[in-house]
Parts: sequence; C-alpha cells; structure tokens
Amino acid sequence: MNTTPDMDTRVLDHPLASALLTQMRDQSTDNPAFRSALRQLTQMLVYEALRDAPVVEFDVTTPVAVTTGTRLKSPPLLVPVLRAGLGMVEKASSLIPQSRMGFVGIARDEKTHQPVPYMESLPDDLAGYPVYVLDPMLATGGSMVHTIELLVQRGADDVTCICVVAAPEGVQALASSGLPVRLVAASIDEGLNENAYIVPGLGDAGDRQFGPR
Ligand code: URA
Repeated sequence: MNTTPDMDTRVLDHPLASALLTQMRDQSTDNPAFRSALRQLTQMLVYEALRDAPVVEFDVTTPVAVTTGTRLKSPPLLVPVLRAGLGMVEKASSLIPQSRMGFVGIARDEKTHQPVPYMESLPDDLAGYPVYVLDPMLATGGSMVHTIELLVQRGADDVTCICVVAAPEGVQALASSGLPVRLVAASIDEGLNENAYIVPGLGDAGDRQFGPR
C-alpha cells in the first residue's frame, strides 16, 4: 500500500488483484470475461476503500453466546459514473446492501478529450454521507473532478474515488483540485497518450464491457 504526499492514494498490492488487472488489460479478453474480472476486482477495491470505515457496535446472539457485532456507522452513497462505472455497481452494492445509489453520466468529446456531462441523479443533501465514486478509469481527471464538484455542491465532504487504473495526470488533477477526496486504485499507470487514453491501460472501459458504441 502506497500513500502519496498530496492526497490519500491507495494502490492495491495483491497478487490476485494483479492477475485480474492483467486479464482486463489483455486485448484478447472478451466482453463477458472483462466484466467478470471487473466485478471481482471491484470487490477487492471496495474492501480496501472501506478498510477504515467507522462502525458501531451492537449485541448479537450466536447459538452459543452473546457477543459484540458491528455494522457500518454511516451507510454510504455509491455513485457510478456512466457508462463505464456501471460494471462496478452490482458488486459494490451487494457488499454494502444498505448503501444508496446516485448516478452521473459523462461522455467524452473524442476531439477535445473534454468531459461532456449529460445527466446527474443525486440526493440533494449529502452532508455527513461518505460517498464512493465508481469509475474504472481516472484519465485526465476531468470527469472525476466534475463529479466530485457536483457532490461537494450538495454538502459532501468525504469522497472516495474507486478506480481500476489511474493515470498520474488524473491523480495530480484530483490532488490539486483542493476537493475533499481520496483515491483507491488497482494501478497507477505510466501516463496518457495523445488521445488521452491511459498507457498501458486497458482501452475504453465502456467498450470493453459493453462493446463499441
Ligand atoms: N477512458 C477509458 O475508458 N480508457 C482510457 O484509457 C481513458 C479514459
């Protein structure tokens, strides 16, 4: 686990995470296998993201004795960034069944590489809510910064980005945004190419899951 000085950034360091990421990077992995690897990797990323989540204790009765159990203190809001974040929703919400869900839709202008927001569906008041943004790819950081700004406008001050692959450019954009955010990722790759794709990356995470548009 690494922590960069600018922002709380955790990179999964586990042989099983690395094997799943390898499967996702491989261009010969078909759409169903890619989605399956993404689901499994999401499980590991969510575990890591909630490692230090506050809990409350309560009594639970086993068949043998009364003992102390725990549950999450504050059920979070999960926010997949459409469309690529959709493949992370099922696993994240099944791990945290009490979570609520919001949605942000952002396309990418293929000429300018700028994010083009097209929809948002979020609760009005997010004060006190931990928020987990699900997006497999943190490239330039434009979409993520836009998403976090929407959350902060609604009072969020505890936002975690859960990504599979991040580019250093995107990490830097988040760190220098001054927004209350931390990052959990499976890899920080080399950088962006001239088309703002992550290198070596895994290609277009939406296309890899759902086929080309
Ligand atoms: N979005 C993707 O899906 N892949 C990239 O490499 C960059 C942005």
